Amino acid sequence: MIEPTIFELSSEGRPGYPLPPLDVPDTPVEQLLSPDVIRTPPHLPEVSEFQVVRHFTRLSQTTFGIDQGFYPLGSCTMKYNPKLNEEIANLPGFADLHPLQSPEHSQGVLQLIYDLEELLKEIAGLDRISLQPTAGAQAEFAGMLMVRAYHQQQSGTARTKVLIPDSAHGTNPASAILAGYKIEVVKSGPDGLVDVEDLKQLVDTDCAALMLTNPNTLGLFEREIVNIAEIVHAAGAQLYLDGANLNALVGMAKPGDMGFDVVHFNLHKTFSTPHGGGGPGAGGLGVKAHLEPYLPAPMVERQGDRYILDQDRPQSIGRVATFFGNVGMLVRAFTYISRLGHTGLQAVSRLAIVNANYIRKRLENHYHIPYNRPCLHECVVSAKDFTSNGIHAWDIAKRLLDYEFYAPTVNFPLIVEEALMIEPTETEPKASLDAFCDAMIAIANEATTNPDLVKNAPHTLAVSRIDEVTAARQLDLRE
Ligand SMILES: Cc1ncc(COP(=O)(O)O)c(C=O)c1O
Repeated sequence: MIEPTIFELSSEGRPGYPLPPLDVPDTPVEQLLSPDVIRTPPHLPEVSEFQVVRHFTRLSQTTFGIDQGFYPLGSCTMKYNPKLNEEIANLPGFADLHPLQSPEHSQGVLQLIYDLEELLKEIAGLDRISLQPTAGAQAEFAGMLMVRAYHQQQSGTARTKVLIPDSAHGTNPASAILAGYKIEVVKSGPDGLVDVEDLKQLVDTDCAALMLTNPNTLGLFEREIVNIAEIVHAAGAQLYLDGANLNALVGMAKPGDMGFDVVHFNLHKTFSTPHGGGGPGAGGLGVKAHLEPYLPAPMVERQGDRYILDQDRPQSIGRVATFFGNVGMLVRAFTYISRLGHTGLQAVSRLAIVNANYIRKRLENHYHIPYNRPCLHECVVSAKDFTSNGIHAWDIAKRLLDYEFYAPTVNFPLIVEEALMIEPTETEPKASLDAFCDAMIAIANEATTNPDLVKNAPHTLAVSRIDEVTAARQLDLRE
């Protein structure tokens, strides 16, 4: 366990860096500054450089990150983030650019934003993209505001409800509710896909949109998507794609061709920009032409060989982020896409799919798999067979840490009891997949032969089980 005392390293008179003797008059600060800007000097710890290095190295070892090992957190696409992305984002022209510099002095970054929009248009089969949103969830909210503005403008009413499948991520209903809609839940059928008959019952002229994830959160492709699009459009509603699972489609299929009107991207998932721990993320928002006027303002436009920020967008939902969004993330995503090109992106999806299916097949005799048929980029297994021994999905996730693997996503999607959602991504070699499957199989055996070992895991980490509810409710980030 981490003892609080490891934070108390300061000892008076042992600063890390002695400053050189003053070579200017030692004027009291009160004579230099007005009282209202003088603050009480902060009480900084006095620690040597060596202690600081050891302190942060030790802290880095008490957690688990993608740079340490396999991180199959389903739905989160925790792929390797190539170091080249970092190098490009750290070029002084990008890293030192001040957000208040004028568009005339920010031409390079505006061009990059414009070009990234063009690439995403091509990837998704859409007509226009905004890169302002700073997360998938924020893009969802912006997308729902746009749907609202569109209906309002078309027919004088925003309509009242948004349809969302029971397998959806929690941010979908949250975003639609924040945008003023009520939610109606569409059932999944026995195959784990949208129950089209149920959808038909719910779609009517009150319906503003259907928010769909494809492939869905079970990693299954919605085979009826073209039919679904027709049903939704026939009622005058919009089809929204939660693009969190785009890693299964890039280079192979375009949401625009499937009939989606609005799509969000999670650049921090599909296009390998770093994420976790709350950000910073980047969530593009793409639309078909009829929704373009409602995109967040300003938009980057090209005029000849110059780029401008177009603020004159009277139907826009307005700004959703400061300045240009999380620009550093846009640089990384642009680098990733440009480096891979079409063939590389296609290989990404193919490998992500092969890897998920490999895991599914290796685990199928050891875990219950509720919808056991070829999946796309992730597979969902269930720990329900172990609950009679007091073992839940959560315990298996904790025990995996002892085997030096990060946990899959647990208890999501909600339609799977004791769900463990595994997304290996394309960046893992077969050896890691095998080592992970060996660990999962070993834990399945332990869950039967020595359940306490699993219930009390992890046994090898600096921090064991924490009270997550209290940690979330009484967040204390101070040292
Ligand atoms: C299916 C799905 N939709 C939406 C989101 C929200 O995306 P973000 O975390 O970028 O806000 C997530 C995040 O994990 C997700 O898995």
